Amino acid sequence: MSTSPAASRRTFAIISHPDAGKTTLTEKLLLNGGAIHLAGEVKARGAARRARSDWMKIEQQRGISVTSSVMTFAREFPGLGTITFNLLDTPGHEDFSEDTYRTLTAVDSAIMVIDAAKGIEPQTRKLFEVCRMRSVPIITFVNKVDREGRPVFEILDEVADALALDVCPMSWPVGMGGTFEGILDLQTNRISRPEGDSREFLGKVEADPVLPDEVAEEIELAQAGYPEFDLEAYRHGDLTPVFFGSALKNFGVAELIEAIARIAPPPRPQPSEAGPIAPDNDEVTGFVFKVQANMDPQHRDRIAFMRLVSGTFRRGMKLVPSGLGKPVAVHSPILFFAQDREIADTAEPGDIIGIPNHGTLRVGDTLSERNQVRFTGLPNFAPEILRRVALKDPTKTKQLRKALDDLSEEGVIQVFYPEIGAQWIVGVVGQLQLDVLVSRLEAEYKVGAMLEPAPFDTARWLKGSDAALRAFADFNKANLAKDRDGDPVFLARSAWDVGYQQERNPELAFSATKER
Ligand code: G4P
Repeated sequence: MSTSPAASRRTFAIISHPDAGKTTLTEKLLLNGGAIHLAGEVKARGAARRARSDWMKIEQQRGISVTSSVMTFAREFPGLGTITFNLLDTPGHEDFSEDTYRTLTAVDSAIMVIDAAKGIEPQTRKLFEVCRMRSVPIITFVNKVDREGRPVFEILDEVADALALDVCPMSWPVGMGGTFEGILDLQTNRISRPEGDSREFLGKVEADPVLPDEVAEEIELAQAGYPEFDLEAYRHGDLTPVFFGSALKNFGVAELIEAIARIAPPPRPQPSEAGPIAPDNDEVTGFVFKVQANMDPQHRDRIAFMRLVSGTFRRGMKLVPSGLGKPVAVHSPILFFAQDREIADTAEPGDIIGIPNHGTLRVGDTLSERNQVRFTGLPNFAPEILRRVALKDPTKTKQLRKALDDLSEEGVIQVFYPEIGAQWIVGVVGQLQLDVLVSRLEAEYKVGAMLEPAPFDTARWLKGSDAALRAFADFNKANLAKDRDGDPVFLARSAWDVGYQQERNPELAFSATKER
């Protein structure tokens, strides 16, 4: 029971495809975690998300998500003590962007939600790839068992296939939709059945239940066909435990939160240039994984979200951002305690602090007391949509350059300055980023711009010796650009083009990610 503050933290994100039930599950997790009054707000946010289509609404959504980017709640668990959960919101869905990816760099585990009736979609797979890159282990929650779903085996096999992982069913739905009877916990062989007529809130728990023959058979097959739960394999990212339930009806959510408390990993050491920094290191260190412009367009202040890696943060503390060398006093940190909305004065490893600033803090910055640590591994991702930026007023080149630099810093877009030609190229991983770009250019920088098709499809960062880069440039000048840091980038016409050039230039690395 004598858990250190860091050991009692569970910092995680939920990943899913649209409509799988992320918002509903978030709400129910907060409900089960004791942060009840927040539930309505999450719902409101879900609605805002769906309705959004113009800049005002984007702004609205962005504003609201400043406060709901992190949801912290705490609960007591027998034998474990009080566990503090930090649930990080991932924008996700069709509006997913680098922001989503970066959020995943700040968590220790993820919950993947899938709809029992549907499959795993490409975007979810991509998020999963990021989890793998970061060794973020995944718990799978198969949602909506209160409706007719696909056969359980089919779902399990698809998860195994899509994630290229072992799957381990931890629970089993006894019937789905109209035939739903309850959820069997395969570890304890207890079934929880819906209480009363409402069929909501599993209440009645019964040990060693008598199951319908076909379900008993299924479970026997499953126990023979899937590996047993192995904590190490899960935490290592080789196995995903699978839970079944219904977020809407609150089935299986208590079991899920219990699993996060008991098996999801506490804050881990984070890689830095000088080796991993462990949570129990005395010095306060952290990294900025997200920067969000404030809601108020009159003020250019931004909130930098820092994940605390080590030490105990105290309000008013001075921290040195790696980019500056000059300490900043963190007088008014935003700490996210959903429970009582009180401003907390301390934060522990795994917690997230929002630091208001005027653009001094950038994504990827390390903050530390002594400025001797640099965290690594916050990547940029190769954009999948490239556009040429055309100015409506050609005299605004300087403002445009400043805006593109700023916005790429914030992670809204990536910018590439081609070696030949004067038209700059922006790259994004999601369409919504382009809408945000045009709106913000106009609103914040008074720059009217149009986005035109670019003759390129994707980009790769080039790494190699100066001689190899020069030789490559001789033949490919028209496809070369520099990113905002001045690093060389190959603009490719197609994925095939990347493969072709890679083959022809084995001494160069064509990288789809770049460390910030
Ligand atoms: P998202 O954030 O992943 O996009 O999903 P969200 O929670 O908004 O859920 C998408 C839809 O699925 C919602 O219905 C929600 O009520 C429903 N849903 C979520 N979990 C369950 C579940 O366990 N069972 C069933 N049957 N439905 C579920 P909607 O009609 O689009 O929205 P609303 O009118 O209910 O707000």
